Amino acid sequence: MEGDSKTQPKSDDKMGAADHLELERTSFTESLTEMVVADDWEPIPADPNYTNPLVRFYRKRINGYDHIAPNFFLVQGYEKHLAGFQARPSDIIVASFPKSGTTWLQELVWRVVHGETGVSSGDATLEYRFPTLEFPPSPIMNMRPLEDVPEPRLIKSHLPYQMLSESVLSSGAKVLYVSRDARDACVSAYHWSRMVNLYVYRGTFPEFRERFTRGLLFPGPYKEHVKGYLDHADTVLCLTYEQLHSDRAEAVRKIAAFLGRMLTDADVEGIVANTGFAAMKANPNTNFHQWHEKGFARKDQEEGGQLRKGVVGDWRNYFTEAESDAFMKWRNEPV
Ligand code: A3P
Repeated sequence: MEGDSKTQPKSDDKMGAADHLELERTSFTESLTEMVVADDWEPIPADPNYTNPLVRFYRKRINGYDHIAPNFFLVQGYEKHLAGFQARPSDIIVASFPKSGTTWLQELVWRVVHGETGVSSGDATLEYRFPTLEFPPSPIMNMRPLEDVPEPRLIKSHLPYQMLSESVLSSGAKVLYVSRDARDACVSAYHWSRMVNLYVYRGTFPEFRERFTRGLLFPGPYKEHVKGYLDHADTVLCLTYEQLHSDRAEAVRKIAAFLGRMLTDADVEGIVANTGFAAMKANPNTNFHQWHEKGFARKDQEEGGQLRKGVVGDWRNYFTEAESDAFMKWRNEPV
């Protein structure tokens, strides 16, 4: 994809949002200034609500999925990176549509695999312990190349099932998926998009919700994403955010059984006790404080961080009854 390419607008190309914010000058935003995307990615019309003037979204249909990615990914040899991924039989992949409880499930899986039942969760951040398949290794994100991760490799991914490499499906690698009430995932994504310097979204929630239902957020259409994994629930362990809330002990037992790990009742209790919202928000290895320090997320922290509220049903503060009905009508229409 380094071949035929076009250069993206430089930082002086203002997009004209009414309350355009000064983009924080950080090593992360500096890294966005030279953006070159291959011609076979279709540019999505610019949305001025993304007040980072450097970001653009692109679309490409891959294995039947309308994959959406920001130029930030595409400039770094994205497809080459994906094509080069070779799953190993011992790999464990936690997949999700963003903002569905990925971090939570990752930490539970890491603890089950490492038998860690205490307050500590290793001596490194979750990003380092559990790198993301589709993000090229980046010092800003503190991720290691997957080749450098000792087995069993614990890997996060937002890729749809349709885009998992053949080697994931043929190697015997274990895949776990977490989904969440789409209304809460949408609210969470709205705040996240306001918080990260990649986007600095400043549109209204209804405007953002429309983008969500039109399938214009990374990694693409929500319903097709969830369906792709649920259709393979015979081999993928599918959990929900709401289950992690209502009976985390049961979820931990399911994870352990799926991964072939033995846990005592005391182990399960220890994991449950140290993975509640308050515990993970207090834990420097799970609270993503480094995003704010390194400039990936805004320093003001007005959005509450990666661990924002951690509740079921926050959507009630953002949807009227009629909006919820319309949204759920869309959600329940088959794809
Ligand atoms: P909110 O923004 O609604 O608070 P992801 O990890 O997929 O990006 O999802 C982030 C969402 O999961 C955030 O939701 C975050 O607060 C929530 N979350 C993460 N860890 C949690 C925990 N231990 N308990 C409850 N919610 C958690």
